[in-house]
Amino acid sequence: MRYATIGTSWITESYIDGANSVPDTDLYAVYSRDEEKAKAFAEKHGAKKYFSSLEEMASCKEIEGVYIASPNSLHYEQSRMMLNAGKHVICEKPIAINPVEVEELISLADKKGLVYMEAIMMLHSPALKLLKQAIGEIGKVTTAHIDFCQLSSKYPAYLRGETPNIFNPDLGTGCLMDIGVYNVYFALELFGIPEKIYATGKFMRTGADACGSAIFEYPDKLVTLNYSKVSQSRTPSYINGDEGSVEVGSISQLTDIYKVNKAGEKTLTFGDSTRHTLMENEARSFYNFITEPEKHKDEYEHAKQIALNVSKVMKEIRNQVKGFKF
Ligand SMILES: NC(=O)c1ccc[n+]([C@@H]2O[C@H](COP(=O)([O-])OP(=O)(O)OC[C@H]3O[C@@H](n4cnc5c(N)ncnc54)[C@H](OP(=O)(O)O)[C@@H]3O)[C@@H](O)[C@H]2O)c1
Repeated sequence: MRYATIGTSWITESYIDGANSVPDTDLYAVYSRDEEKAKAFAEKHGAKKYFSSLEEMASCKEIEGVYIASPNSLHYEQSRMMLNAGKHVICEKPIAINPVEVEELISLADKKGLVYMEAIMMLHSPALKLLKQAIGEIGKVTTAHIDFCQLSSKYPAYLRGETPNIFNPDLGTGCLMDIGVYNVYFALELFGIPEKIYATGKFMRTGADACGSAIFEYPDKLVTLNYSKVSQSRTPSYINGDEGSVEVGSISQLTDIYKVNKAGEKTLTFGDSTRHTLMENEARSFYNFITEPEKHKDEYEHAKQIALNVSKVMKEIRNQVKGFKF
């Protein structure tokens, strides 16, 4: 499968690195807005072609799939362009800004027999099955706390008065879209769509949200979500049952998962995953969905459905929190 990339930051390099371990998956072309950068990126990663025009890349017949890692506000247009050109698409999170866009592109991809998926590492990690097994062993779950607070490397630039992309709401960025998306994925993957959502958030000078909290109410449980890009937490996430709890160190990577009994004794369920393995797993799913659609039908349908549900829930959170520009 010959694929191309959009975006030249470290996350695209990580994806290329992971995809290099997937058999029959070859980086064929790269795109950058800047021709020199595109050329250098292609040389660095051994791509045969480089483009600084998306239209030209879309019309390149050899390209079968595209990995998109541009600023969030561009995901919809770029995905649409590539799908219309007959390419399969794996797009970084959030897959689009609004659920109507996600729905439209899922239909477009389905109509054309193409794969359109969100690059969410945890969905494709073998740790997910182990996590679910561990949760099945802690009795009746009534509460969970999902915590992801990661101080942005761009925060010093913000404090200097700059507006880095990640804190520029015109690009559809900010904490919910960047970090909170993982909290929402985690909740929906484990517990489904909540009956009620109560959400709040705090905003920055630039108009981007800095941090947020939400309560997801289910018929039999309450789940709290806490996410921030302007503070760092070392607190794991917890799923609590009447016979024990499960602790998760990283909800985005599904690492450091422990089962904890009522006496507080911990048993390791899943330890570490390298970034390489995580990206390899999602690149392998992309390849599998394209090449063996029947065999991986359920997995792919689930990936599409949860992407749409997460987008709807994030829209509801934005509707409730006064201050979002999108
Ligand atoms: N899965 C993960 O763990 C993970 C981690 C980080 C990021 N991400 C996702 O990956 C995507 C990219 O994030 P990032 O932090 O890499 O973003 P970024 O550095 O701001 O931009 C990514 C690329 O888009 C191009 N670009 C930058 N600013 C642009 C603008 N104003 N207009 C058009 N193109 C622009 C640049 O490529 P050229 O200059 O070469 O065109 C850049 O390399 C986001 O959707 C983010 O959520 C995912």
